[in-house]
Amino acid sequence: MQTLLTALLALVFALAADAAKQLPSSIPLCKVSLPKAEYSTCLNAAVQKAFHVLSIKGIPSVGVFPVEPLRVSEISIAEGGRAVRLQLTLSEAELQGFNSTRLISSSNDISEGGTTLRAEVVIPRLEIISQYEIDGHVLLLPIRGKGDSNITLGNVNVVVKIENDVETRAGEEYFKVKTFKINIKPQKINIEFGNLFDGDPVLGAHMNRFLNENAADVFGELSNSIEEAFAEILSQITKRIFDQVPYKSIFLH
Ligand SMILES: *[C@@H]1O[C@H](CO)[C@@H](O)[C@H](O)[C@H]1NC(C)=O
Ligand SMILES: *[C@@H]1O[C@H](CO)[C@@H](O)[C@H](O)[C@H]1NC(C)=O
Repeated sequence: MQTLLTALLALVFALAADAAKQLPSSIPLCKVSLPKAEYSTCLNAAVQKAFHVLSIKGIPSVGVFPVEPLRVSEISIAEGGRAVRLQLTLSEAELQGFNSTRLISSSNDISEGGTTLRAEVVIPRLEIISQYEIDGHVLLLPIRGKGDSNITLGNVNVVVKIENDVETRAGEEYFKVKTFKINIKPQKINIEFGNLFDGDPVLGAHMNRFLNENAADVFGELSNSIEEAFAEILSQITKRIFDQVPYKSIFLH
């Protein structure tokens, strides 16, 4: 299996000026010199709170809108494997469910000149409502259509790992995202593509049933492309914050 093309998308951000900013005071800050166990407790509370603040209020001071619901103008997934070969574009997508994100664990390894952040969360239910356009083959069957879609994922386990360098700008040190990796494992998948095959009701219903019966396999084939799309979305939000908030205002020294 090989991913031919990867993700393409555009997120809408509010404008933000470029002076050094602070995180909202409702997010606790952790002193990196704390003993390990205390630091870890503090970090877990801070990460859980940060998810909450991001989903409900966003961080207006750095131009980040609330991510609940998250609006993404386009998510494009292309897969060129043997079992699944298709081009899928979701447009005007609305993603709902981030406001129920539960933290499982988090860690932060600080080393000379950088840091590695890792968080594991569960999203109990993630609903992706959008327009779609699809063309290709799924497990040997042709698929083609354009219309409304609803992709709903249940108990989604998400692991995010962000490696950062530190760079200095105007006398302040900032994190610079070096790699952003995400791993997404939904326990349940429900797919509904409206108007498949030019609205043919028999073929459309058959294909939706087929997709849902084989959802785990289909998701498995598409997971690299899906993870790249999500990494792109979430890394844009992360960069937006790290570009403006000096890292010593995120992790106290
Ligand atoms: C989460 O946000 C959705 C809208 O996207 C809302 O309908 C729902 O009530 C919210 N749930 C919680 C737990 O805040
Ligand atoms: C999307 O699909 C889920 C699962 O079938 C369903 O519960 C939900 O109501 C649907 N959402 C919309 C907006 O149709």
